[in-house]
Amino acid sequence: MGTLSAPTLEEITRLCISRGFIFPSGRIYGGLAGFFDYGPLGAEMRLEVLNDWWYYFVRRRDDIVGIYGSIITHPRTWEASGHVDSFIDYLVICKRCGLEYRADHLLEDSGLEVKELTAEYLSEAIKQYGIKCPKCDGELSEPVPFNLMFSTYVGPKQTKANLAYLRPETAQLIFTNFRDICITARLKLPFGVAQVGKAFRNEISPRNFTFRAREFEQMEIEYFVNPKKLNDCPYWDEVREVRVNILSAEMQERGVKDAKTITLEEAFELGLISTKWHAYWIAESLKWLWRIGLRKERLRIREHVKTELAHYAVQTFDVEYYFPYMGWKEIEGISNRTDYDLKRHQEYSGKDMSVLDDETKVIPHVIEPSFGLDRVILALITDAYRIIGGRRVLSLHARVAPIKVGVYPIVTKEPFVRKAREVYGMLKERFTALYDEKGSIGRRYARADEAGVPLGVTIDGQTLEDDTVTIRFRDTREQIRVKIPALTQKIAEILDHWDEYSTSHNT
Ligand code: GAP
Repeated sequence: MGTLSAPTLEEITRLCISRGFIFPSGRIYGGLAGFFDYGPLGAEMRLEVLNDWWYYFVRRRDDIVGIYGSIITHPRTWEASGHVDSFIDYLVICKRCGLEYRADHLLEDSGLEVKELTAEYLSEAIKQYGIKCPKCDGELSEPVPFNLMFSTYVGPKQTKANLAYLRPETAQLIFTNFRDICITARLKLPFGVAQVGKAFRNEISPRNFTFRAREFEQMEIEYFVNPKKLNDCPYWDEVREVRVNILSAEMQERGVKDAKTITLEEAFELGLISTKWHAYWIAESLKWLWRIGLRKERLRIREHVKTELAHYAVQTFDVEYYFPYMGWKEIEGISNRTDYDLKRHQEYSGKDMSVLDDETKVIPHVIEPSFGLDRVILALITDAYRIIGGRRVLSLHARVAPIKVGVYPIVTKEPFVRKAREVYGMLKERFTALYDEKGSIGRRYARADEAGVPLGVTIDGQTLEDDTVTIRFRDTREQIRVKIPALTQKIAEILDHWDEYSTSHNT
């Protein structure tokens, strides 16, 4: 079985558009750079991914609750968080054609390593390597800081007093609501608060389809721990043996390019991950990404080198996925934010942010696993893209496939159509299902394979004789026969045990 799984970005973009996963927003007007709309399949897939995330990180656990915060946020939030002063990228403008670029991206695109994100460093590097406008070869301006937050005005007056920001991360809503959440949910340390929602960043150069967008969705957890108990993780035994591909800051400083595979216990003992709680959240993040089908060898954790660290973090590991068309890229950041945010909000609001633990008042420290939903979806689609025996198949894990089962009459004639509609009516009560009677059965299977539908149910001649149908497996094309009264149960069992039923995920 020939399997190719190194699609180009163009192939992924084409598939997403032609199958109705994701469209550039405002396509009829030429598109709006950095904005995307999810189509019929994408909308279902987005729900599957976020619902599984919510199940895995919130509902399944006793120590995490969820919130759902507003998008336009009190401006003081972002003064306190440091985003007004520090949430910047460096912009350079071509003096000839006026095109704008992110300075560090220009250097990276020329194959250079960006060691520092400061105006001085970027300016020096642009001069030293003679970097010019990629479009017209024009001279570039000096790098200037550019704040990525989108702003708006609240109410009719467009004055400074009415200025507000669209949140650039969902996390701050957890910090600003911290007191109310603790009281209403009667939480005791250690505990976490989760949130899924939109974030907005006025990226200088949005690119690589949904990977760098201006409007995107985050799935974030702030996990609060007593600062004296950063290594008291009651779940340590569950994760200590988990093996991770790790590229530490120290390895990168030595020029090492490839990650090494070690257990989390080894990573902690070697001092590569500074606290057990941080290591625990790395493990849980990876376990979820594996659970939804991403290949282990295409995931690694890379520590931020000092100059990359966000203003709030003392240690950050990015979970990176290997996109064949971009290389290793961040799909999640896991940061140790210490008590930075709660202390800043305490200072700016004058409200006490401490909680009682062991009869002592403490301001908790925070470990923050922060996933980008759109990047996870892009990684899933990329990972699932296969050419199997000449067929193009989107080999999505059943857990995240937008449609679980297709129903087909073998020919578009009575009584096959009536029977197939009956079966479809029964199955869609339980699963997201599609009914397709257009074109040859081969064409219908091919369409469903590209849409990632894991199972196909076909009503054929034998159905009329013995009330059985075939279930066809997307990846292997194997078929089994099942009695119609047992069909719902059988499909539920297959979907629930997809890893055992599907062999393709081992390829
Ligand atoms: N609260 C921490 C935080 O926002 P981040 O690393 O800036 O950290 C977290 O963002 C995640 O959000 C990233 O790992 C990525 O998946 C996603 N993300 C960030 N910027 C994005 C963009 N411009 N387009 C799509 N996703 C983005």
